Amino acid sequence: MIIAKTIKEVRENVKAWRAEGLKVGLVPTMGYLHEGHQSLIRRAVKENDRVVVSIFVNPLQFGENEDLDTYPRDFARDSKICASEGVSMVFHPSGHEMYNKGFCTFVDMTGLTETLCGKSRPGHFRGVCTVVSKLFNIVNPDRAYFGWKDAQQVAVIKRMVMDLNIDIEIVACETVRESDGLARSSRNVYLSSNERKASTILQEALKVAEKKIASGVRSSHEIKEAMVETISSVKEVKLDYAEIVDLKTLQPVSTIDGPTLVAAAIFIGGTRLIDNYIYGI
Ligand code: PAJ
Repeated sequence: MIIAKTIKEVRENVKAWRAEGLKVGLVPTMGYLHEGHQSLIRRAVKENDRVVVSIFVNPLQFGENEDLDTYPRDFARDSKICASEGVSMVFHPSGHEMYNKGFCTFVDMTGLTETLCGKSRPGHFRGVCTVVSKLFNIVNPDRAYFGWKDAQQVAVIKRMVMDLNIDIEIVACETVRESDGLARSSRNVYLSSNERKASTILQEALKVAEKKIASGVRSSHEIKEAMVETISSVKEVKLDYAEIVDLKTLQPVSTIDGPTLVAAAIFIGGTRLIDNYIYGI
């Protein structure tokens, strides 16, 4: 497995693979890999001849008071996982390699990025779109893999490739969970054991929504109320948002009829957790 620190190394290798007619998959990550990341990597390895995993904690997508400095990192462990999964190349650039002195070009999307997490994390998706565009240009893959766990990110990236005519297939993969339902996340390590217990309320609230929809309820208002009530029953937890939106446009819907995203975010102590339930696909 190649460990590339520079853009030049990535380009040279991918160019050679493409010259041989090989298909290239990209899995963008911020590292501290877990089963969720691994499921993306496994699918990419299955569907492509060569897989590149990028590991880069992107400063541009963190707000001023967010966890950029404390975000967990373990490159030695991550590279072992990648090697054992059959990854061909890990791209692990420095901040300087990605953002040269004088860097001043950004990918800024309106609309889709202003709801849900975009509302609570202004500038987050500008950072995500900018770094993902750069990774797409650096690696030039045939396919790129993203997790439904970050459903807004999937919708934003799909819209970005459509709007900017980027010729890469975006593959969205199912959320991987712990046995009690908590979605796997690099940020779960922040939770104390009490907070970890309390965190399951997020999945419970989404299950309440899922059951209501399965029983025929179509009113977003009624479902949202039930979710808010469930989450507010745990005192350690503060609701950030519980929303029901169209899966493509991410605009709120009052009645559920087409593909719908039921999304919620909570704070437990200093940790922010997100999860969602997708209906109709
Ligand atoms: P990161 O949080 O490291 O996640 C990398 C990819 O793994 C994302 O596509 C995310 O949705 C997916 N993922 C995370 N947890 C998952 C889970 N439990 N099940 C399935 N997939 C999961 O998302 C980012 O990094 C960054 O924003 C990035 C796209 C790399 C840009 O910096």
